[in-house]
Amino acid sequence: MKSSIIAAVLAASSIGLALHAQGKEHPIPRLVENDGRFALFVDGAPFLMLGAQSNNSSDWPATLPKVWPAIEYLHANTLETPIYWEQFEPKPGQFDYSQVDSVIAQAREHHVHLVLLWFGTWKNGSQHYMPEWMKLEPERYSHVTNKSGELVDSPSPFATASLEADKRAFTAFMLHLKDADLERTVLMVQVENETGTWGTLRDYSPEANKLFDGPVPAEVLKAMGQTPAALGASWEQVFGPEAEVNFHAWAVAKYVGQVAAAGKAVYPLPLYVNAALRDPLKPGAPGTYESGGPTDNVLSIWKAEAPAIDVLAPDIYMSNTAAYLKVIDLYHRPDNALFIPETSSAVREARFLFSALGLQAIGYSPFGLDYTRNHSAQPGDPDAQNAFLDPTAQNYGLIAPMMRDIARLNFEGKLQAAAEVEGEPAEILHFGKWDALVSYGSGGRGPAKGNPEPVGRALVAQLKDNQFLVTGYVCRVDFRPAGTEQQRKSGNIVAGVGQTPSAQIDGKWQHRQFLRVEEGVYKNDTFRFMRILNGDQTDWGLNFGFEPEVLRVSVAVY
Ligand code: DGJ
Repeated sequence: MKSSIIAAVLAASSIGLALHAQGKEHPIPRLVENDGRFALFVDGAPFLMLGAQSNNSSDWPATLPKVWPAIEYLHANTLETPIYWEQFEPKPGQFDYSQVDSVIAQAREHHVHLVLLWFGTWKNGSQHYMPEWMKLEPERYSHVTNKSGELVDSPSPFATASLEADKRAFTAFMLHLKDADLERTVLMVQVENETGTWGTLRDYSPEANKLFDGPVPAEVLKAMGQTPAALGASWEQVFGPEAEVNFHAWAVAKYVGQVAAAGKAVYPLPLYVNAALRDPLKPGAPGTYESGGPTDNVLSIWKAEAPAIDVLAPDIYMSNTAAYLKVIDLYHRPDNALFIPETSSAVREARFLFSALGLQAIGYSPFGLDYTRNHSAQPGDPDAQNAFLDPTAQNYGLIAPMMRDIARLNFEGKLQAAAEVEGEPAEILHFGKWDALVSYGSGGRGPAKGNPEPVGRALVAQLKDNQFLVTGYVCRVDFRPAGTEQQRKSGNIVAGVGQTPSAQIDGKWQHRQFLRVEEGVYKNDTFRFMRILNGDQTDWGLNFGFEPEVLRVSVAVY
């Protein structure tokens, strides 16, 4: 054996022994459900992915140096970055692991986790990441055919050769992760990217048409709540105007489900798919959105056809508050953990991380957060240089040091969140005998007016019956003994000027008093006491500005 190899083997075995001695074997990350709540378990405990997704072409040795400084600036704990099939399998059956290995090694150097995005058969509805040798054989690795018989820029879910090639490549990739990533740097894998088809509702190839005219599979009927009487009926007969999108979703989900299952069989890492959404408030007719992907109307078809996919995840590029909130509500289901793998990084949207945490999100990741593009509005202006990162950096600066506690409290059902909605300056979070009153734009003693821009947000977790962990930005938080349901509905949730939040319970007034308001900082996921707040800092509630602040608050009544 060469001396370098001997050294490497010795080093590897001593690292292995050291890890073993410290009991530091890393279990495979897994998605755990308890009592309708989900958590991603990493190293045996709930973990919240505070992510950032790189630009599509950033995962190259030449560009990764422009990614890590952004990740560091953001305080992100997870980088989402692609693996390109065209790079991974330059010749049929020959796999090039160099890119996977380099991003894993560099992530470890920067102490962040990875979510790897398998840009395989589908990328934004097209097949642009198929290797050249596949692109050069379009008859074999076929495209979708539209109603007029034209080939479309989208892969056919009925292309058996493409399916087999993707299964083989994805399996090789997952097998490599299994061997190369005992540290579990990689937390999850996205299978394909924004699957489906733009420009046509489905594949109209002869093979597809035959299946479309045939009976709807029993599992689809069941998933879509159809009665057994529908058995044997065609897609058109069962679903009418939705028949073609449902059919395409079935075909795409079946294909992706097989790719996912093949990879999961060799390495059971949590897997997810991301969705290009349709309008959640006023969904247009089929054809106005990408057909076939996991849009909200076909989530149950995806669940039935692709059980190896753990999470169906929305890519949310919506600035409308009601629309954003509707989307997270639609994707937070008893059978689906909420995970936002792509979203906007704009100032007004940053509060939606908190909305997502209110639904026990396992992760969140704005898109395009690296320095491969010049984001400087004015060349040379250092402030403008990071403007695209700042809203996310502010969120993560607050949450990253307490990430494990947030994830644990959320999994235990003890955490609630608030995010400001335009025209609604106050809201209540209910915690058994206490209500947390969150308000925005509460200047001094005056009533809450809302912030000039809806950017307020808060997290409140119940630590004991009368003790809460509280944090947030540009908001006021106070506590009131929980009143009757009627009082709650009255909407009078913020006490009048100078008044103490109170409630009349069983004919007797009960008033809140702060026993102790501790300000602290989180270090190594532990709250460290700094000082007691009192006087002007607590007399009109607990006021949060733009500085990260964490409070531990004990309350009582008199
Ligand atoms: C959604 C896709 O999933 C991403 O890969 C990227 O193309 C963004 N759109 C671009 O905005």
